[in-house]
Amino acid sequence: MNIILLGPPGAGKGTQAKKLINELDAVQIATGDIFRYNIKNETELGKKAKSYIDEGKLVPDELTIDLVWDAIDKVEDGKSILLDGFPRNITQAEALDEGMKERNSKIDYVINIRVPDELLIERISGRRVCVETGSTYHIKYNPPKVEGVDDETGYPLIQRTDDTEEKVKNRIDVYNNTTSVLIDYYDKHGILITIDGTKTPDEVFKSIVDALGK
Ligand code: AP5
Repeated sequence: MNIILLGPPGAGKGTQAKKLINELDAVQIATGDIFRYNIKNETELGKKAKSYIDEGKLVPDELTIDLVWDAIDKVEDGKSILLDGFPRNITQAEALDEGMKERNSKIDYVINIRVPDELLIERISGRRVCVETGSTYHIKYNPPKVEGVDDETGYPLIQRTDDTEEKVKNRIDVYNNTTSVLIDYYDKHGILITIDGTKTPDEVFKSIVDALGK
C-alpha cells in the first residue's frame, strides 16, 4: 500500500510517518529529511537547496523530483512507500502519477492531516530535533526524558533553522497558496482521507489506521 502524508508544516506528518512505517511495513521517504541530510553533509544538492529551505520556500521541482525517484527505486519489492512532504504542488503530483504508472504502481491513499494554522506555530516553535538522527520531540507535547538530550542516542536536541516564527509563517503561506490545492486534486482521484490532526499523536495514529482499514 503506497501512501502520501499531506498537511501543513507542523501537522504531524513526520510524527505519524514514524509510527506508520511499522504498521504498514513501509519505507518513509521524507524530502525535507533528505534535503537536511544533504545540507549537513555539504553536498552539491545541499548547497543548492539550502537558501530555499532557509527562506521557507519550496526547493525547485528539478532538484526535488529526481531525488524522489532515486529513493523510490531503492525501495525493496513488496514494501509499501510512505511519502512525507512530497508532492507539494501540481507539477510534482503529476510527475508522481506518471512515474508510478511507468513502474506499474500507484498511490493508494492520501492522508490529509488537518490542523488549523493557529496550532501550527506553537507546535513548530516547540519542536526540538536530535542533531544526529533528526528524531523529533516537543517541549510540551512530547518532551525528552532529559531536557535537551535525545532519549536514544544521548545527542543534543536543537531547533531546526527553518523553525523560527517568521519562517514558519512563510512555510504556512506556501502550503496554503501552493500545496493545499492537492487536497482537491486527490479528492477528485477518489483517494483522499482527511484526518483531524488536533488530537494526541496516538489518537491521530489510531484514526489513520482505522481509516485505512488496518
Ligand atoms: P519538511 O521537513 O517536509 O517540513 P514541513 O512540511 O514544513 O513539515 P514539518 O517537518 O515542519 O512538520 P511535520 O508535519 O512533519 O510535523 P512533525 O511531525 O515534525 O520540509 C522542509 C523544507 O524542505 C520545506 O519548507 C521546503 O523548503 C523543502 N521541501 C521539502 N519537501 C519539498 C518538496 N516536495 N518540494 C520542494 N521543497 C520541499 O510535528 C511538529 C511538532 O509538533 C513536533 O514537535 C511534534 O512533536 C509535535 N506534534 C506532532 N503531532 C502532534 C500532535 N498530534 N499533538 C501535539 N503535538 C504534536
